[in-house]
Amino acid sequence: MILHVPALLKREQVAEARRALDRAEWVDGAGSAMGVVADVKKNHEIPSHHPVSQQIGKMIFAALQNNVTFVTRALPIRICPPLFSRYVGGAGETYGEHTDGGLFQMPSPNLPMRGDLAATVFLCSPDEYEGGELTIHDTFGSHSVKLPAGDMIVYPASSLHKVEPVTGGKRFVGFFWAQSAIRDDSKRSLLADLDRAIEECNAAGPNNPGIMRLHGVYNNLLRIWAET
Ligand code: NI
Repeated sequence: MILHVPALLKREQVAEARRALDRAEWVDGAGSAMGVVADVKKNHEIPSHHPVSQQIGKMIFAALQNNVTFVTRALPIRICPPLFSRYVGGAGETYGEHTDGGLFQMPSPNLPMRGDLAATVFLCSPDEYEGGELTIHDTFGSHSVKLPAGDMIVYPASSLHKVEPVTGGKRFVGFFWAQSAIRDDSKRSLLADLDRAIEECNAAGPNNPGIMRLHGVYNNLLRIWAET
């Protein structure tokens, strides 16, 4: 499931994030990559303990908690603190094809977290940079993603993906990983479809006993499949 969340951040929040990013110290992004992935990662990041990471991370975290689309479709139970990266056009920065880590260590509380979902929050407009599309491969083919500032894309962390070389301007994004209550992407997609169908049936004609029965089916499937 690839989930587009429009306007996760408001315009003024994106502006605040960009002001903070401008005064942060950026370091080589390869330093936070493990093993073979470090060889294909050519960008810059802000260290996770940096005050700017924590400030904008809190803003994104609050927005996630209040976003019904993200909460109901992704069914997150653990979320890593967001990190931030910058790709500079003149340097041809890029992140070659890779798959994200399967296990992460959350800093607070200090718990392991399975990386089911990866998310990118766009912190600049598509017209501020050239290239830099996020390309995600899934069973239906390749998807090229370049979204308005403030939008978010959520996709399976198990998928092969890359950031195309940035050939002009600068690309700023936030990114994080989440553990979902539903580990299996196909089951999570099925639940999302069912939830959406219930919403659409309810909008078309509320107070139908069948809708309440479907609502029960949704929750009973959740009870069978959810891991906490
Ligand atoms: Ni990745």
